[in-house]
Amino acid sequence: MAVAHVEEAETNERDDNFKPVFKYYKMKKPKPSLKDVLDFDNECNIEEWEKIHLCGSDNISYLGFQSSNWVAWKNQSIPGLIFINNPFTSIGQSEWITRCIQDFPEKPNKTNLDAHYAVPSMIYKTELFRKLRWATLGYHHDWDTKVYIKESYTPIPKIMDDLTKVIISAIEYKSSYQAEAAIVNYYHLDSTLAAHIDHSEYDKKAPLISISFGQPAIFLLGGTTKKIKPIGIFLRSGDILITQDDCRQAYHAVPKVFYNKETSIRYQELGAYSKEYLEDSRINMNIRQVCEPGKGFPD
Ligand code: OGA
Ligand code: MN
Repeated sequence: MAVAHVEEAETNERDDNFKPVFKYYKMKKPKPSLKDVLDFDNECNIEEWEKIHLCGSDNISYLGFQSSNWVAWKNQSIPGLIFINNPFTSIGQSEWITRCIQDFPEKPNKTNLDAHYAVPSMIYKTELFRKLRWATLGYHHDWDTKVYIKESYTPIPKIMDDLTKVIISAIEYKSSYQAEAAIVNYYHLDSTLAAHIDHSEYDKKAPLISISFGQPAIFLLGGTTKKIKPIGIFLRSGDILITQDDCRQAYHAVPKVFYNKETSIRYQELGAYSKEYLEDSRINMNIRQVCEPGKGFPD
């Protein structure tokens, strides 16, 4: 089952070096070898990466961050990519997970279920919740047209705006930045996200902040065409991946979500429902600036 957006294959099958890697990691039997996957937690395959330290701001524990000194990684040959090793506390993660489960799929935000069902409030308490694939906030991403519409907007929650400000300041982004759209993706163990580039935003270089919760996944990052063979990166609960500048225009995908027993143990603070949901689920919350700074929404 594919989560949401599927990009049309405009690359010749023969020239497509992305798809074989996607298929390889998606494979169930035989299980793919994970030896080449970049693993920042265990410092595997990251010889070319530079470890950096980022500073959060003061008084950010209400956002779930563990301290203001975060370990992050960058690579000179991939300009614009920053990987931040989970900077959240266990309780902080649980709070964000609860928001993703209980708050963000609620009206007036939009979800994939709206087109098919009369969605009740507190949807997380209903059976429909298993069918939830995405929720959108701010300017609602239109999966068909891939065009944001000025009128299709619901406010970004203050807590998400605050989180964005702290991350943007930690990476020392020089221009002004506004969280204007967010997509929350809900994956189960058999879900994948096909190769795509996020090009609906008017500012195509501004950072896209992508935060993972729940079960771990392999994230593939390629280049501006599918000819470029992607690298695989482990994304675990709490990890933040930031793409800006050139790598914001790179193909990327999620071919695999894993089950990891330890993931569940870490969420003792979670309510029973969320805990059970996360046993076989991954949540990805990504935040984008839609408009070019100072220009507002184009007419
Ligand atoms: C997206 C996306 C990646 C992820 O929503 O555009 O690329 O890690 N998500 O789920
Ligand atoms: Mn994307």
